[in-house]
Amino acid sequence: MRKQIIAANWKMNKDVNETSEFIYAFQNEMKGVVTAAEVVICPPFIALDTAFELLQGSPFKLGAQNLHFEEDGAFTGEISARMLKSLGAHYVIVGHSERRQYFGETDEIVAKKVKKALSADLKVILCVGESLAERDGGVTEKVLERQVKAALAGLTEQQLASLVIAYEPIWAIGTGRNATPQQAQDAHAFIRKTVAGMLGEHASAALTIQYGGSVKPENAVELLSQPDVDGALVGGASLKADSFAKIVKSSPKEIPTAH
Ligand code: 13P
Repeated sequence: MRKQIIAANWKMNKDVNETSEFIYAFQNEMKGVVTAAEVVICPPFIALDTAFELLQGSPFKLGAQNLHFEEDGAFTGEISARMLKSLGAHYVIVGHSERRQYFGETDEIVAKKVKKALSADLKVILCVGESLAERDGGVTEKVLERQVKAALAGLTEQQLASLVIAYEPIWAIGTGRNATPQQAQDAHAFIRKTVAGMLGEHASAALTIQYGGSVKPENAVELLSQPDVDGALVGGASLKADSFAKIVKSSPKEIPTAH
C-alpha cells in the first residue's frame, strides 16, 4: 500500500498574515472530509512558525521549500535542516526545478541536501523533471534516470522510506499545460523502475511518486487515478484554500495497489 501525498508548494508567496488566513480557510474547507491522503503545506521560511502553531492538532503536516546541506556556519541567508526541525517542519522539498534553474543547484548539491535532510529526520520531497527541449529531444528518460540516480546514490532502503519523489516536468510548471495522465503515468513508471534497479522492487513499490505541474481541481481526479501517480505537488492552485481543498478531495480514497 502506498501513501498518497498532496502537498502545497507556495513558492515565494504569502506573508505571515496570508498564511494564517489560508490555514483557517483550508481547515474550514476540510471539516468532516475523510481522506486517505497525507496533506503537506509548504509555506515560505518566514511563515513556518505561524503555520506550525495553527496546524497543531490537525492531521496536516508542515513542509519547507529548501534547506542548506551544511550543519551550520558562515552561510549568510541560508537555513539548516536542524533549524527547520526546530520549527516543526516534517517535510522539505529538495531540488525543485526553480532551484536548479535559478539558483544553480546541481545534481551533486541536490544529493547533499537529500542526505542532510534525511540525517536530520526530515522527510524529503525530491523533485525531478525534464525541460521542454529535453522532452522534444527524446531524452526525458535519460534526464530522469540521471537525476534520480544522483539524488539517491548511497541511500539505504530504510532511508528511502522517508523520501517521496515529485515528477515535475518543467514545461508543465506554471504554464497551465499539465502533462497528460498517460505522460505522467509513463514517467512515474520509469522512475519507479529506476529506483527498483537501485534499491530493489520492494522499496520502489512502496515509494510515493507525486505529479506536479499545473495540477488544478479540473485535472486532479484523472491525474491522481493513474496507477503510479501517488499524489500531487501543487503550486498555483494551492494558493487558494478552496482550490487546494478540492484537489485534496480528488485523491482516491482507496490506494491503488502497486503492480
Ligand atoms: P504549478 O502547480 O503552479 O504548475 O507549480 C507546480 C510546482 O512547481 C510545484 O512544486
